[in-house]
Order: sequence, then C-alpha cells, then structure tokens
Amino acid sequence: MPASQWTPQEARGAAVYQANCARCHYPTNTHSLHGPGLQAITKVPSMPSGAPPTDERLTDRILHGYGMMPATSLTDSQLQDLLAYLHTL
Ligand code: HEC
Repeated sequence: MPASQWTPQEARGAAVYQANCARCHYPTNTHSLHGPGLQAITKVPSMPSGAPPTDERLTDRILHGYGMMPATSLTDSQLQDLLAYLHTL
C-alpha cells in the first residue's frame, strides 16, 4: 500500500518499523536481508517458520525474539501501531 494511503496509526507503525525492524527485514519483498522479507506477512497462510501470521504470533516474535531474531522492547502503543503497519505490507 502506498504511504499516501496510510492511516495515522499505520504511519506511526512505519516509523517503528524503520527504527526497529528495517535493518534486518525488507518490507516490500520476500528476499532475505538478515531475516525474511516481510511483504504480505499478515496475508500468507504461514510464516517462514510454519506458524500462522496472527497478531498474537507476530507479537510473540517481536517482543520475545525468535531463533536468530533478537527481542524488541516496545510500548503497547508502539506494538499496536507496528501491527497496523505490518497489515499494510
Ligand atoms: C537483528 C536482526 C533482526 C531484527 C532487528 C528483527 N528481526 Fe525479525 N527475524 C530475524 C531473523 C534472523 C529471522 C529468522 C529467524 C529464524 O528463522 O531463526 C526473523 C524472523 C522474523 C519473522 C518470521 C517469524 C516466523 O515465525 O517465521 C517475522 C514476522 C519477523 N522476524 C518480524 C520482525 C519485526 C516486525 C521486527 C521489528 C520489531 C523484527 N523482525 C526485527 C532478524 C531480525
């Protein structure tokens, strides 16, 4: 989705993504950077690990890390904004 169509919440989530995720994940393709590209991550039937991309599962990966991915500490509102943004990918 083009940036011009983001809601204010999605735009805040994009900033959270830039600050915390972009160095390891491309948002606009599925190629690997340090971790898998996250294009359409909430729309695929399963994430690279095989787990379904539910908000609960994404929240767990983000807050607790997973395999080679470090945990990210976010406030509740940053997390909600980030999830809204991930749904636009
Ligand atoms: C230091 C690099 C790094 C950062 C920062 C990082 N990740 Fe990851 N991420 C990874 C790696 C590496 C994997 C693959 C882990 C594995 O398969 O062992 C991964 C996997 C994932 C997956 C797939 C999980 C699955 O079940 O297959 C998602 C979704 C994800 N990251 C989202 C994010 C989000 C959102 C952020 C920002 C809050 C983030 N990551 C920050 C490196 C990173």
